[in-house]
Amino acid sequence: MTSTPPLLAAVIGTPITHSLSPAIYRAAFAAQNIVGDYVAIDANAASIASVFAEVQSQDVRGLSVTMPLKEAIISLLQSVDEDAALLNAVNCVDFNNGKATGHNTDGDGCCDALEQQGGALLGGAHAVVLGAGGTARSVALALGRRGARVAIINRTSEKAEELVRTLAPAAQEAGGDIVMGSLSEIARAGVLVNTTSVGMNNDELPISANVLHRNLVVLDAVYSPMDTALLKAARQAGAVTVDGLWMLIQQARRQCVYQFGWNPDAVPMREAAERELAARRK
Ligand code: ATR
Repeated sequence: MTSTPPLLAAVIGTPITHSLSPAIYRAAFAAQNIVGDYVAIDANAASIASVFAEVQSQDVRGLSVTMPLKEAIISLLQSVDEDAALLNAVNCVDFNNGKATGHNTDGDGCCDALEQQGGALLGGAHAVVLGAGGTARSVALALGRRGARVAIINRTSEKAEELVRTLAPAAQEAGGDIVMGSLSEIARAGVLVNTTSVGMNNDELPISANVLHRNLVVLDAVYSPMDTALLKAARQAGAVTVDGLWMLIQQARRQCVYQFGWNPDAVPMREAAERELAARRK
């Protein structure tokens, strides 16, 4: 007789069929010798309440939340941690102590990748973030919390101003800052993060290549393609580069800590994601 492994966790959002999360989490479970499954569930704003109730009734230990539900999930939770509340966006839910609690691991995942894969020192660093959407907000807050001075550059300046106004005080509490930026600041920056969608599935650059230099650690949140035009240009300028898949892996690793209380090795998670992407290219 065969029995199905218990459902430990899931990801919800739409579209969800191309989510790498099942491959990444299953690899983390296997490396930890944990018997359990992780599934992708299609849910939208209209169905999220019933899907969430179903998830809770299954005794699921963790829930990852992706587009377009990171804000919509909040009203269904019993509590939301301080930074997820500031960001008004939750990508991770744990069910510890019988209570659904929301977190946001995107920004810390980016910072972990900058530090661990890029060797960046974030405390006191000058960082430039391109973009002012949801990803930029979480990245800027996490960088500021680690003591970086973060300059925001965005096509629509009102969105950058709103980001600075709402998040700068939290960064300042931690000895960092978040300010409006300009391209000229890249010359003295040590960290550059692209959170815009420029370069996704094409070879466009979000900024001119001639502002890149060898003292930068450059992370591109775009991971399709994995080696974006920005990362290629940054390497040519002598910079250290970190691809967006590392940010995805690191934010998933942090989710495991919240949801299960153990800290998985990022390497088998990365290998599983790469295998999954390679299989899809066939
Ligand atoms: P995410 O959740 O991934 O951050 P988002 O909230 O839609 O996605 O944010 C997308 C970001 O990419 C925004 O900063 C957007 O700039 P605007 O605020 O001006 O819209 C930026 N972006 C998207 N396409 C762009 C383009 N062609 N040139 C420059 N910036 C672009």
